[in-house]
Amino acid sequence: MITVVGSINLDIVGTGPALPRPGETVGGARLARHPGGKGANQALAARRLGAEVRLVAAVGADDMADEALKLLQDGGVDLSEVAHVNGETTGVALIAVDARSGENLIVVCPGANHVLRPDDVAHLPIEHMMGVLEVPVPALLAAVKKATGFVSLNLAPALPVPDELLAEADLISVNETEAEVYGDRLKASGALVAVSLGAEGAVLYKDGQEIARAAPPKVEVVDTVGAGDTFTAALTVALIEGMSPQEALAFAVTAGALACTKPGAQPSLPHRRDVDALALSGK
Ligand code: RIB
Repeated sequence: MITVVGSINLDIVGTGPALPRPGETVGGARLARHPGGKGANQALAARRLGAEVRLVAAVGADDMADEALKLLQDGGVDLSEVAHVNGETTGVALIAVDARSGENLIVVCPGANHVLRPDDVAHLPIEHMMGVLEVPVPALLAAVKKATGFVSLNLAPALPVPDELLAEADLISVNETEAEVYGDRLKASGALVAVSLGAEGAVLYKDGQEIARAAPPKVEVVDTVGAGDTFTAALTVALIEGMSPQEALAFAVTAGALACTKPGAQPSLPHRRDVDALALSGK
């Protein structure tokens, strides 16, 4: 069982002809709402890839909560540890997507995600765990200290974290921007470090040495929201299953590529059979 300690958001998405620069207004966008949040996305991605998953998180006591939880519920993620908090709104992410490239800009309004506390994990047995930085660090620290199995931390969005947290990780995943923010602290953690490189795939390091590199299959990119979450979840599931670092990284970049082929975060998260089929096709 993987316990994910992380965020739940409702993503409000505008897909338009370009991404705005600061001070610019871009019109002509198409509006959509999808369940999202890095924690929820990773929980559902891991579940669709075959893992048993429980999500520890918080939503508001509002209408957006049901919408944000819908696909997690349908997908069979255990939501018994999701708190519905009075006086807080469900987290919301305002997302602009460039219809031509699939690239995005995201502004997150955390709402209830920021009231997650160490007490929310204190009573739980935790085997494997995944955590993201869209929830407070003290809750993550409490969880990593309880975990008896594999600990995967996605340091996104990049924020200050104590070395104490990094030292508990078996796997740290970051994109290139986040890797620059954390610098040598990633190597010092002693964890496997996965750096995702967008369309170029990803690299896995141990003690600062490259131990695996994988390029994704060619796909038609529609929307990259959720691709990083899929990559992290797939790599975690694969390593827990006992795949070699090279096999696990190839599996993860294939899953991440598939997540780019449909709009929305959670609607685009791939199922195991689709990842296996694409990997076997050798594209
Ligand atoms: O990683 C993608 C996610 O980041 C979106 O679903 C959005 O909710 C933000 O948290």
